[in-house]
Amino acid sequence: MDAAIEIDDISKSYAHPVLRGVDLTHEAGVLALLGANGAGKTTLVSILTTLVRPDGGRARIGGVDVLRDPAGARRLFAVTGQETTLDELLTGRENLVMIGRLLGLGRDAGRRADALLEQMDLASAGRRRVATYSGGMRRRLDLAASLLSRPAVLFLDEPTTGLDPVSRRRVWDDVRALAAAGTTVLLTTQTLDEAEALADRIAILRDGRIVADGTAAELTAAVGGQRLVLQDATGAEVRSADTDGTAASLTRALAQLGPADQDLTVALRSPTLDDAFLALAHGTPEVAA
Ligand SMILES: Nc1ncnc2c1ncn2[C@@H]1O[C@H](COP(=O)(O)OP(=O)(O)O)[C@@H](O)[C@H]1O
Ligand SMILES: [Mg+2]
Repeated sequence: MDAAIEIDDISKSYAHPVLRGVDLTHEAGVLALLGANGAGKTTLVSILTTLVRPDGGRARIGGVDVLRDPAGARRLFAVTGQETTLDELLTGRENLVMIGRLLGLGRDAGRRADALLEQMDLASAGRRRVATYSGGMRRRLDLAASLLSRPAVLFLDEPTTGLDPVSRRRVWDDVRALAAAGTTVLLTTQTLDEAEALADRIAILRDGRIVADGTAAELTAAVGGQRLVLQDATGAEVRSADTDGTAASLTRALAQLGPADQDLTVALRSPTLDDAFLALAHGTPEVAA
C-alpha cells in the first residue's frame, strides 16, 4: 500500500524562503509536526491539502499526487484548520448536515451528523446555535465536520491552540479515539506536551527543513550528552547547561551556570524530551544538524 503521506523536497518562498526542501513520509498513526510560530507548519499543510502550490517538490496523499490530481487527493483527506469554518447562526447539527450534503452524503447526512455529534459528546448541544458554543465545543464540532467524509488521512493544524486546559484534553481524547479507529493523522503543534501526548512520531520543522524525526525517545537520545543542573533545596531545576561529561566540559558548564546561591546544589542528569525540543526546534543549528 502507498504511504498515507509522502513529501518530497517541497519548497515554498513568500518574501523569504519558508520551506527549503521538506522531506517526510508517514505511513500510519499520528505524526506531530512540531515547530515554532512562523516555522511554516500551516504553509506545509496548505500545500498538502491543495490550497497552496509549492515552488518545487512533490507530495502524495495515499499515492495520489496533490499537484497533478488535486481533486483525487481531496477525496482522501480532510482538514481542520486554525480558523473554524462553522456558520454561527446554524445549530451544530445543521452545520454538519449542510457540510454533509455539500460532500454528497445525501440522505445519509443526518444520520452521520447524529453519530458524530454523539461521538464528540455534542449530542445535547447539537440543537443549539454554534454562536452559543465554547471554544472547545467549536473545535470538536470542527473535528466532527472533518470526519463526515470518512477521510483516510486527517490534517489538524494546531487543533488545541487557544483552548483552555480542560477543552484541550477533550480534543486530545478525540484525536486518540479517531487514531485508534484507523485514521492517519498529521497534526501541527507548537507545544511539545501535545506532540508527546498524541503522536507516535514527532517531526521538528525548523529553518524550512525537517531537522529531526522519530519517536520521543529517539529525539531525546539524538541530543545526546548530559545536563549539568543547578537545583534548589527542593530539587527543582534552577538552571542547566550541556556537557559531555569530560572535566573540561564540566568546568565550562559550571561557569555557564554562573554564580550560585549557597543553598543550590549541582547534579548531572540525562537529557529530557524538553531539552531535545529546545535544542532541535529553537537551539543552535549545530545541535540540529
Ligand atoms: N500567504 C502568505 N503570504 C506571505 N507570507 C506568508 C503567507 N503565508 C505564510 N507566510 C509567511 O510564511 C511563514 C510561515 O508561516 P506559517 O506557515 O503560517 O507558519 P506556522 O503555521 O508554522 O506558524 C511566516 O513568516 C508567514 O508570515
Ligand atoms: Mg500555523
